[in-house]
Amino acid sequence: MFKKLSIVFFFALFATAGISEWGVNATSFRVGQNEFKDNNCVGCHAKVTSPYKLTSRYAEWQISTHHEKAVGCEKCHGGDPAIKDEKRAHQGVVPPENPQSQLHLKNLPETCSTCHQGVVSSFTESTHYQKLKGAGIGPSCSTCHVHMGSQVLYTPEETAAMCSTCHNSPNKLMPLRPEIPEKANEVMQSIRRANTMVLWADRLLDQAGAKKLDINDEQKEQKIARAVLAEAKVSWHAFNLESVRKKADDAHDMSAKVKDSLRAKLFPQQ
Ligand code: HEC
Ligand code: HEC
Ligand code: HEC
Ligand code: HEC
Ligand code: HEC
Repeated sequence: MFKKLSIVFFFALFATAGISEWGVNATSFRVGQNEFKDNNCVGCHAKVTSPYKLTSRYAEWQISTHHEKAVGCEKCHGGDPAIKDEKRAHQGVVPPENPQSQLHLKNLPETCSTCHQGVVSSFTESTHYQKLKGAGIGPSCSTCHVHMGSQVLYTPEETAAMCSTCHNSPNKLMPLRPEIPEKANEVMQSIRRANTMVLWADRLLDQAGAKKLDINDEQKEQKIARAVLAEAKVSWHAFNLESVRKKADDAHDMSAKVKDSLRAKLFPQQ
């Protein structure tokens, strides 16, 4: 009985991991602890229990997609993971406040672009990038993604509030543009709605697959919907809000059709 339960539990874990909203599938979950057995940043930091800042940063990494994808601390922070000694390993690890640091707000786009070229080249199209590199103002990658990037910590309301600090604040030198935070709120809602619809259709696809129904067309459509949603997320980084919203809405509508068609096949009575 116990054995059976744990198998079911394992399956449930895998199923949810496989349909994460980032579209990472189960087969990519092969990186285990061993991947980092020779990485001294990870080996040592896993045991450090103070101060809070350090312990919490380690834990954020531990549960992140970057950990799953074998991206160690040194990929962003620098330093030498092959060295056991703390001082020597830290050579080249520069605090983010230091303008020389590859994690300084101004330098983040280049640091992240080694792996996220699409997103970063979208970002470099924006006025924000010019202002960030020049005067050092404007949002950078960690403004919205925080330490491990794994989630966007901003809800639509929080995103709008963040945009408002520059674009709609009477104390700032910038002109008042209330429409910018308003639109940003709507765009974030459109991305969320599309995310959820894609997830819903994915679950129905799983159910229909398990029942061996003919779902060829739906699978094809859903693949396009996922690609359009991914494109919307990439192009959000150029801040062309109208075009992002259109893409996200298109992805939503495509997946909604897939959902309706699958529901008709799965639950013909309703
Ligand atoms: C032998 C243990 C050990 C190794 C190896 C190690 N660290 Fe550390 N690291 C520490 C300790 C302890 C601290 C806290 C130092 C302090 O508070 O003065 C720290 C601090 C840090 C900080 C915060 C900087 C600060 O001044 O608060 C970063 C970032 C960091 N380490 C990254 C790395 C990276 C990247 C590597 C691998 C290239 C690495 N560490 C290797 C033990 C280690
Ligand atoms: C994907 C890139 C990335 C990876 C991987 C990463 N970090 Fe960071 N880290 C950042 C960024 C960006 C900042 C600065 C923004 C912030 O403070 O949130 C930061 C800040 C920190 C800070 C606070 C600033 C400082 O230097 O004191 C600590 C501590 C830290 N990271 C530790 C780690 C440790 C330990 C690992 C590995 C277990 C790690 N990070 C892996 C991107 C990363
Ligand atoms: C103004 C906020 C904001 C800024 C600044 C920002 N992002 Fe994003 N990022 C988002 C949002 C919103 C999403 C979509 C999240 C979702 O899936 O709901 C996203 C998604 C992503 C993704 C996942 C894309 C995908 O296809 O799923 C990556 C990678 C990423 N951002 C990297 C970056 C990098 C690198 C930078 C700096 C050049 C950056 N972001 C700056 C808000 C931001
Ligand atoms: C060494 C490569 C590497 C570097 C450097 C890197 N990332 Fe990633 N990142 C990945 C991989 C791999 C994924 C998994 C998704 C994928 O395959 O695109 C990922 C996923 C993400 C996601 C999607 C959310 C999630 O957790 O699923 C965000 C957001 C993100 N990274 C932000 C950043 C930011 C911001 C930086 C710079 C501070 C950065 N990354 C640096 C490799 C990297
Ligand atoms: C730290 C300040 C800051 C924040 C936060 C900020 N911006 Fe900006 N933004 C700027 C600056 C500076 C410019 C360039 C303005 C100029 O040159 O006239 C700009 C320009 C823009 C433009 C181009 C405006 C035009 O008419 O050409 C858009 C669109 C924009 N931002 C959207 C956003 C959105 C959406 C957010 C929130 C997700 C946001 N911004 C957050 C500083 C900021």
